[in-house]
Formats: sequence, structure tokens, C-alpha cells
Amino acid sequence: MNRMTMIEVKDEWKSRAKIDKATYDEWYKQSIDDPEGFWKQHAKRIDWIKEPTKVKSINYTYPDVSIKWFEDGELNVCYNCVDRHLKDKGDKTAILWEADEPGNAQHITFQQLHEHVCKFANVLKELGVQKGDRVVIYLPMIPQAAYAMLACARIGAIHSVVFAGFSPGALRDRVNDSEAKVVITANHAPRGGKATPLKKNTDKAFEGIEGDVKCLVVKRTGDDTPMTDGRDFWLHEMEGKVGNDCDCEPMNAEDPLFILYTSGSTGKPKGVVHTSGGYIVYTSMTHEYVFDYHPGDIYWCTADVGWITGHSYIVYGPLANGATTLVFESTPTYPDASRCWKVCEEHKVNQFYTAPTAIRALMGKGRKHVEGHDLSALKILGTVGEPINPEAWNWYYEEVGHSNVPIVDTYWQTETGGILITPLPGATPLKPGAASKPFFGVKPVILEPQSGEVLEGNGVEGVIAITDSWPSQMRTVYKDHERFVNTYFQQYKGYYFTEDGAKRDEDGYIWITGRVDDVINVSGHRMGTAEVESALVAHKAVSEAAVVGFPHDVKGQGIYCYVTLMEGTEPSDDLRDELIKHVRSEIGPIAKPDALQFAPDMPKTRSGKIMRRILRKIAEDKLDELGDTSTLADPSVVDHLIENRQNKG
Ligand code: PRX
Repeated sequence: MNRMTMIEVKDEWKSRAKIDKATYDEWYKQSIDDPEGFWKQHAKRIDWIKEPTKVKSINYTYPDVSIKWFEDGELNVCYNCVDRHLKDKGDKTAILWEADEPGNAQHITFQQLHEHVCKFANVLKELGVQKGDRVVIYLPMIPQAAYAMLACARIGAIHSVVFAGFSPGALRDRVNDSEAKVVITANHAPRGGKATPLKKNTDKAFEGIEGDVKCLVVKRTGDDTPMTDGRDFWLHEMEGKVGNDCDCEPMNAEDPLFILYTSGSTGKPKGVVHTSGGYIVYTSMTHEYVFDYHPGDIYWCTADVGWITGHSYIVYGPLANGATTLVFESTPTYPDASRCWKVCEEHKVNQFYTAPTAIRALMGKGRKHVEGHDLSALKILGTVGEPINPEAWNWYYEEVGHSNVPIVDTYWQTETGGILITPLPGATPLKPGAASKPFFGVKPVILEPQSGEVLEGNGVEGVIAITDSWPSQMRTVYKDHERFVNTYFQQYKGYYFTEDGAKRDEDGYIWITGRVDDVINVSGHRMGTAEVESALVAHKAVSEAAVVGFPHDVKGQGIYCYVTLMEGTEPSDDLRDELIKHVRSEIGPIAKPDALQFAPDMPKTRSGKIMRRILRKIAEDKLDELGDTSTLADPSVVDHLIENRQNKG
């Protein structure tokens, strides 16, 4: 990428933005030179019950890693997102809910949010939930999802949101791992004109759930659902039985706020633990400055609350800032590909934050869906979740933003809690496809992957790690601190390792090149290849499976599976379909393989290790990049795999 493609910050962006270049430089320097002073100052954006006197206490020394921020502070996150706005913003819309069927938007004011959250919190208490207990939230994009999260925060319970697109098996594993007391679900989840029977999925999950776990059910549609006596409770019935007032539980800054499971390269998904004080300081601050949020703005992030983006930038960050946050139940293509722009026009959306995969999908449907909509309220466009290709970036910039709205390409992870690397709209000239510059307090380094040596200066490429901590960093893996330490702090000592590749260009801009582990990024969703493999080998016909990613025009990456069948089992198209369906139902629709190839043999080293590099190149059709195959136990296996490559749909 050369300098020519840089888009300078326009005067108009500069004049409305809170942070200009000089302020960015000054604050960034201060945040690195004096992190204690910087964060002590910015922690004041939060209402503390007891202001912290200690700012940070960080040890990145392997294996004694420990991370604490504001450790003697006390606060309540729900208070900061709801109660503190009642005085001057009680009648202002907190949640603007856009239901699946167009034309059914609802405005929920901060006052109403307070009432709903208090009731919800009292219902949880009635079901026996106490401070420190875990509550699983398996809900679609309805206001009750936010009420449930905030209700947990209010009483000090730890929520674990499970994406409503996940299968009963995935739900069961997460409920069991977190030893939750209550699972909150809805009878049905309408999305894109279809309704998922969410309660039925939950019932299936309950067949394998251990212990005395209750189920709280939101009646989203008129449809009935079977209820199990003594276990299942309707939310609306319970709400009739509890009071309206519920005090906020004083929480230590380091008390866990939530667990969120995410995929890694090995084993089962990890329960990422985020705590209270640092998380809310950092998410509210990034929300304000990255999206240049001003009071009165209508902010829309299209993510799902099942992912970290929904936690940090639909619920916690925006509500802590007293913003109006739009909660979208539908999909960008329902009832057609103009839905997002209709919603932006109707609600005069000022900030629109989505994933590159959505942009590519909408771009594919043609400009006619964008044209004719009044998008003049838009001030900021954002992307997150995967690298954005310059073609999609340009389409977003030109067709949606009419070349007059800055795009913030925000790089971060479930583990980081908040945005780490991003342009700031009034300060950073834009380069299509570059995550650009670190946010305040973030010190990224590019390391040489093999030696771990720091690559200084510009024009370097390697893996990206972070020196020192920032307030919303994950603290541990739930019940497995050793896994936390080994995953992120073992390989490159003294750094938090992101597991991403990156380069710093000649202008000092950071570009994320993608995961360097066995995690693939499908439509911005993280998927461990090991998870898909274990779903495949759980099928009786399969003896061995290897899964790799390949570049996909819309999804970013697609899922390509190589499957070796059990002795005596014949490959067939029916079996291929069955295996694809099997993965879909074991994990969820997002894990549906795009291609599945029967492989009588895998390319293995003499010690029996599958050479995934070769499988990846075959799936990518990069046959001239197969490299050295002479170390394989049987090099002829590769020819067979090449001849039988599958169509990737
Ligand atoms: O590979 C990076 C990619 O998404 C991964 C994190 O996924 P997850 O934990 O699900 O969180 C997604 C939402 C924060 C990262 O390791 N990623 C995220 N944002 C970007 C990105 N890759 C390139 N550019 C981005 N802006």
C-alpha cells in the first residue's frame, strides 16, 4: 500500500471531533510515559462508590502473570450504565429496538430501562441468584438481553452470554463449565423472517445439564412452548411477583463482570473472564473517542450480544456514556439488502459499526440498495472482526459515506475487551484496510515470529504483541488460569500475544494480516478448527478429520474439511451432506462447512503429524506453493488430494 492512498482528515471531521492530531499525540505520549497518572485521571469518567487509590498492578512475567486495575476501587457497572443517567437523561432513549419485522421499533428510555432492569434483577434474586453466581443468557437481540446483562451486573452475578445461533450442545457445555444457576432464554427467536425455537434448543441442552439449574423464559412471540414444572419460569409471570426497587451491589473493581466463551486453537472454547472497573473505564472511553460520540447521537452497532462486540459496544460502552444504542434483531438482508440504510435513514443514525463480511455481502447486492436513502446523519462508519479488503473499504466509504464520512477500522479481540488499534476520526489520516494506530495506553510491538525479537522501526512484518496492560484486558480463563498464562504469555515472554500476524508500514500504520494459529475467521466469527474436527470425528462414519480455512469472497474465510472414513464405510454425496449437517447441528449454523472432501489418507510426517500447511494450500488452490513434500510418509497422498478437490460453493 503506498502513501498515495492515504485520505487526509477533512476539516469537517476535525472540527466536530473531540480528539485532533495534537491531542492524540499528547494524550498518547502521556498514556505511555505515565500510565498511572493517565488512567487515574480517565477513571474519573466512571462513578465510583469508592475511588481507587491504586491504578495498576501488572505482572507479565511468565508464569506468574497477574493483572489488576483500580484494585481498591468499588463501583457498580449497572449503576454507571443506568442509574447515573436518570437525573438528566431519564426521558432520553437508552435502547432503540429495531425488531425483525420492519416498522416495529421501540424506544426504551433510561427511566424505563431502570424499571426493567430492577424487576429483572429481583426475578433473578427470586430464583436464588446471589453475588458471584453465574447466569447464562441465551437470547436473541431483544431488549431483554440487555436487561438481563445489566440485571446481573446490578446484583453482582456473573453473566455468560451464549450466542443464540449456537446449538444445544454448545449451550450445554457452556452452562456446565460455568456451573450456572439460571439459563435465560426466549420461547422463539425471530430473525430474517424465520423463528428459531430457542426454548426447544434449551430443553435439549437441559438433557445434559448437571445440577439444579433453573430456566427463565422471555415470551418473545405468541407461540407456546412446553414448560417443565419447578424448572422453567416465564419472565412476565415472575415480574408480576417481585418489587420494583433493587439496590446496586457494591462491587470491587476486580470482581468478575462476565465470562464469554471464545474459540482457541486447541481444546474446548475458553471462558474469557472480564472484570468490572477497568472494563467499564476502557469500553466507555473507547466508545466515546473512537466513535466520536456526542450527547444526543444515535449509535448503531450491528453485532450480536453473543459476541464481545455486543457486550462492549452495544451494551456497556454506549450505555455508560448515556448514549442511545440501537439493538437490531434482524439481518442486513431482511426483507432486502436495503434494510440497514432504511434503518439509518429512519432513525437518523450517526454512527454505524459493522463487520467487513456484512459490507461485502451488501456490496454484492449492488448499489441500488443504498441509493436514494438519506444517510446524511452518518458521521462515523466502523468495521470490526476481520481485515477489510480495500475494495470493500472503498465501497463503504464511497457508496455509504459519500466520501465524506471517516471509517474507523477497529482491531481488537474478545480477550482485549475493547478496541486496541484504530484510527481516530479527527486525528488519523485513513488508509483503506489498515487498523492504523494504537489507542491511548496501548503499546503494540511487531515481533519476529521465530526468534521473538522486537522488529523496530517502520516497514516490518511479523506477529503482533502488546507490551504492558490496558484496563479492559481479560484477567484469566474461567477456572483455568494456567491455560490463560500458557496461551497468551508463554511464547513471547513479557508480552501479551494476540495470535495475529501484522505489519507496520513505512508510515508507522499497523495492518493486521490475520490469525497465525489454527483459528479461522468466518464472517467475523472465530472458529477453532479443532472444534469442527472434534464435531466431525464424533460422527460414527469418521475416523479422522482435518479442517482448514480458505479465502472466501463474502465470509472472509470459509471452512474446508478433509475427512477420512472408517474402514468399510463408502464415501457418497449423501454422506457428505450428512456430515455437513452434523457439524451444523453440533456447533451451530456458523460452523457449517463450505466444502468437505473425503481423504482416504492425510498428508502426514513420518511421526504421524498431519501437515496442515499442505492441506491449507490445496484448499486455497495454491498448488505451486505446496513446498517441500519429501518429508511426508507417503508423498503420493498429495496427488490424490489434489485430484479430488471439492467445489467451494
Ligand atoms: O484476527 C483478529 C480479528 O478477529 C480476531 C478476534 O476475534 P474475536 O475475539 O471474535 O473478536 C472479534 C471482535 C472484536 C482477532 O484476533 N480481527 C478483529 N478485528 C479486526 C481483526 N482483524 C483485522 N482487522 C480488524 N479490525
